[in-house]
Amino acid sequence: MKIFTTRHELQQYLLQCRQKGETIGLVPTMGALHEGHLSLLALARRQSGVSVCSIFVNPTQFTNPDDLQNYPRPIEADIAKLTEAGCDVLFNPGVNEMYAANEQWHIDLGELEHLLEGKFRPGHYQGVTQVVFKLFDIVKPDFAFFGQKDYQQVLVIAKMVQLINLPVKLVMVPISREAEGLAMSSRNIHLSAEDRQHALVLSKALAWVKDYFSGNNLQQVTAEAVAMINAEPGVTLEYFEIADGETLLPATEANPHLVALVAAQVGKTRLIDNMIIR
Ligand code: PAJ
Repeated sequence: MKIFTTRHELQQYLLQCRQKGETIGLVPTMGALHEGHLSLLALARRQSGVSVCSIFVNPTQFTNPDDLQNYPRPIEADIAKLTEAGCDVLFNPGVNEMYAANEQWHIDLGELEHLLEGKFRPGHYQGVTQVVFKLFDIVKPDFAFFGQKDYQQVLVIAKMVQLINLPVKLVMVPISREAEGLAMSSRNIHLSAEDRQHALVLSKALAWVKDYFSGNNLQQVTAEAVAMINAEPGVTLEYFEIADGETLLPATEANPHLVALVAAQVGKTRLIDNMIIR
């Protein structure tokens, strides 16, 4: 695996690949890699000639300084996992390589930015679009792979791609889960054994809603899922909503695409999960 820490060297290398007629697939990550990340990479390897994984803990998308400080950064273990998984290129820049001092610009993402995650983490999606725009600009990928785990993030990036007319095809990859249902996340290492047990209520409530949604009981299944989560010790619910799968606006039974999304604090860790209902 080739490892680059500067834009210039990465671009030189990718230029050669492109001249040979190779397509480029990009998997943006913040590292602390798990099987979810590796499933994105597996698809990138299948769909493109050169697979590029980026590891960059992006400061502008963190709304809580402690969260940024405590974000895991096991770079040696990540390099071993990527090498083993057959990744072609790792881009691992420092903050100064990605941002000029006091850089401030934003993209108008409309309502999507202020709903759900946007409401609880104001400014988060501006940070995400900033860094993903920069990564697209540097790598110029034919395909970019994002996890359904961050469903709203996929919609935000799709909106940016559409607004700026960027020449990249986005691929959404299903959620990888632990055997008991917990969605894999770099933050799961902060869960105690007890937290982990309590956290299972999130995927259970989502699966329950998917099973019991009959087409005309949206309010009822939502209320029961909320009650289920509120009854779980150690779990503080932030939101549980069934939303329109394309806009994330609150949905009714008439919406053809429905997704249930949840965020909760479990012990000291904030977790999100979702499930496509229809
Ligand atoms: P990070 O949280 O490291 O996630 C990198 C990618 O892996 C995202 O597209 C995310 O949705 C996906 N992913 C995480 N857990 C997953 C799971 N259990 N199953 C499937 N895919 C999963 O998301 C980010 O980083 C950042 O916001 C980033 C896009 C890199 C911009 O900084």
